[in-house]
Amino acid sequence: MGSVKNIALIGYGVVGRGVAELLEKNAGVIEKRAGGQVRLKYILTARPRAGDVRQELITQNADDIFNDGEISIIAECVNDLEAAYAFCKRALVGGRHYVTSNKNLIATYGPELTELAYRSNVSLMFEASVAGGVPIMRPLYKCLSANRVNGIAGIVNGTTNYILTQMKREGQSFGDALKSAQELGYAETDPSADVQGFDACRKLAILVSVAFGSYVSYEDIATEGITEVTSSDITLAEQLGYSIKLIAMGRLAQGGRIYARVSPLLIPHENMLSMVEGVFNAVNLSTDTAGDLLFYGRGAGAEPTASAVVGDVIDIAAGGRYNDSVWRKGNGSLLPVEENICSLFVRAELSEREKLGKAFSGGVLAEVGGELGFITPEGIESETREKIRASQIKTRSIWRVKE
Ligand SMILES: NC(=O)c1ccc[n+]([C@@H]2O[C@H](COP(=O)([O-])OP(=O)(O)OC[C@H]3O[C@@H](n4cnc5c(N)ncnc54)[C@H](OP(=O)(O)O)[C@@H]3O)[C@@H](O)[C@H]2O)c1
Repeated sequence: MGSVKNIALIGYGVVGRGVAELLEKNAGVIEKRAGGQVRLKYILTARPRAGDVRQELITQNADDIFNDGEISIIAECVNDLEAAYAFCKRALVGGRHYVTSNKNLIATYGPELTELAYRSNVSLMFEASVAGGVPIMRPLYKCLSANRVNGIAGIVNGTTNYILTQMKREGQSFGDALKSAQELGYAETDPSADVQGFDACRKLAILVSVAFGSYVSYEDIATEGITEVTSSDITLAEQLGYSIKLIAMGRLAQGGRIYARVSPLLIPHENMLSMVEGVFNAVNLSTDTAGDLLFYGRGAGAEPTASAVVGDVIDIAAGGRYNDSVWRKGNGSLLPVEENICSLFVRAELSEREKLGKAFSGGVLAEVGGELGFITPEGIESETREKIRASQIKTRSIWRVKE
């Protein structure tokens, strides 16, 4: 077999521990695929770990790693953005390959770090940062690199998908479904990053940057979470043949611009994304040559996420490289979201039926429990909203429908 690859792990929480375990559990296949033994030499943690089974590898001194000339690959799974940024910079400047599961790191500092990786002729890989165990980054930049990607639509946050599934299946309110997610450990005590869509937004920024070949900052992506979705919205949408999902979507729009948005969206039942339930993730890619592809699986958890991290490590150990120029080509131009063309779902009292009928010819209607759900014909979103306002239709909620 080939030479030994010494690696260091930074972060030893849910994902980091999963990485250490996977390197041991599948050492044989990993060695074959990497072309040499992948040996975990250090684990850097913030706090000491007395009595840990890997005690002899654990250190709190980053210099142990950075001063060791044998370490060529660093896998980082920390939960602190600025700490990860400092580790990554130090690694890349020092000519070490870097693998991270940290979506914040890539969404925030992607262009700068990829530039550094390029200058140092090393790789910066982040398969685990989007959709955890679901391989999506490598298919995008490698397997599908002969394609033009026209669109992405993904369920990339398991917590919100679990909450929406509970609301649909059990008729629970948002608050009750969130509570049950917290009890099961699917949602954090402070759930805002998930339920307000910020987590999905960072993942979408990474996806669209790679898919469309120019950097899109997460700060520029219109983001709406699921806190205002009600079980009545879900029931009426189901009657009309749709499920409500938190969708991270991006597509090429008029004039080479990119339309990118995270928001609740009505997905027709015949679209496979509507069948993705519970904590599962799925990403649909529409390409010009391979057609539509759906990637489905576990978006979080120790083992699925470790699978993605270790996959990157093996790829690098076997000679694979990634420091793609898309990150350095300047910013992509985003379509103002109000120019988007779509249908809107409107929930209102039954008494609004006549006004809706007058304002829109050809819409679709369902009635449940004294309320109606109405789907407008497709149009420019801002114009449809203006029509609803001008017709003085008293709406209880308005959500977009997937085109
Ligand atoms: N959990 C998932 O399913 C999942 C899925 C995909 C991506 N991710 C991403 O993966 C990363 C890690 O997530 P996690 O769930 O494993 O988090 P976690 O369980 O909270 O573990 C974080 C680890 O980072 C370590 N750490 C923090 N600051 C450090 C520093 N300055 N120096 C050394 N170590 C430091 C902590 O060390 P101490 O324990 O010593 O404090 C801890 O071991 C995050 O960026 C997360 O977004 C997680």
